[in-house]
Amino acid sequence: MNLITLDEFIARTEHDLPDATGELSGLLRDIGLASKIVNRDLSKAGLVDAILGEANEINVQGEDVKKLDIIANNVLKKCLQNSGECCGIASEEEPDFVAFENRKNAKYVVLFDPLDGSSNIDVIAPVGTIFSVFKRVSPIGELCTIDDFLQPGYKQAAAGYVIYGSSTMLVYTTGDGVNGFTLEPSIGEFCLSHPAIKTPEMAKTYSMNQGNYNSFSDKVKNFVDYCQDNTDKKAFSLRYIGSMVADFHRDLLKGGIYIYPSTKDAPKGKLRLMYECNPMAFIQEQAGGKATNGKERILDIIPTELHQRTTVYIGSTKLVDMLEE
Ligand code: AHG
Ligand code: MN
Ligand code: MN
Repeated sequence: MNLITLDEFIARTEHDLPDATGELSGLLRDIGLASKIVNRDLSKAGLVDAILGEANEINVQGEDVKKLDIIANNVLKKCLQNSGECCGIASEEEPDFVAFENRKNAKYVVLFDPLDGSSNIDVIAPVGTIFSVFKRVSPIGELCTIDDFLQPGYKQAAAGYVIYGSSTMLVYTTGDGVNGFTLEPSIGEFCLSHPAIKTPEMAKTYSMNQGNYNSFSDKVKNFVDYCQDNTDKKAFSLRYIGSMVADFHRDLLKGGIYIYPSTKDAPKGKLRLMYECNPMAFIQEQAGGKATNGKERILDIIPTELHQRTTVYIGSTKLVDMLEE
């Protein structure tokens, strides 16, 4: 048996990182640890609702039951603060960024969506965690600032996601390709299962909330119509879970396009640039795919606020090109 664990892989590839001093490696290991804890907590989610009481209520033991988004947020925040390599975080679940008082000497900030697709938990569909890592731009030795977080996606030092599905898998990039690690539950280790992931250039799969069709632009409507047109060809397959991590993961491995355009309810798009689109765009490009907002490359967008939303078309190169044409 030739198992390569995540920690082993990180150690082996450490010298290839732009910053070969080990801090980024340490940070990635800590994110791996946090996701194992989240994975454990998620596996008890059904019990929380059905037996222990609804989230945000008092459970039968008289304890406050927190929503899983908040539990995952706190786990990641704690692990990153303990890490020693992270001077601050920003999260979809926090109103503002959090600077770690005791980590002024650390070099990195991490932005994350602690639990993506969280409404899927009630129906036991896959959910995920998404993370994005930047090297700070403020001076080391001081508290991190908003400028450390509001950097364009092309400056990410690393990005990744964890999908909690029929298996749990962690996928990440540091700008040198994309690798996937499946959690082997009996030993509690992420093991390299998908080395050097490359996404197919083309596939006949699209993924979107098509219920919003009437509020799409003509460009998006035309693309959807093309996908459904089966007059002289086989129509595309529509696959939509409603959990970006899960839809993205399928497209990454099998090819396809994930689309979240502007809609009546979300004129600027629904997904968040910093916690969802930037990290996924970095991964997709590293796997050979593409990500745009319809006007420019996602990774080139200059962010102006932490919780900024954007439209996103992400996936196999030919499909993203087709939509843009
Ligand atoms: P989150 O659970 O972190 O708020 O994200 C939900 C997002 C994303 O995961 C998913 O692709 C999208 O919302 C689904 O939106 P619709 O329900 O509008 O299709
Ligand atoms: Mn999300
Ligand atoms: Mn979320």
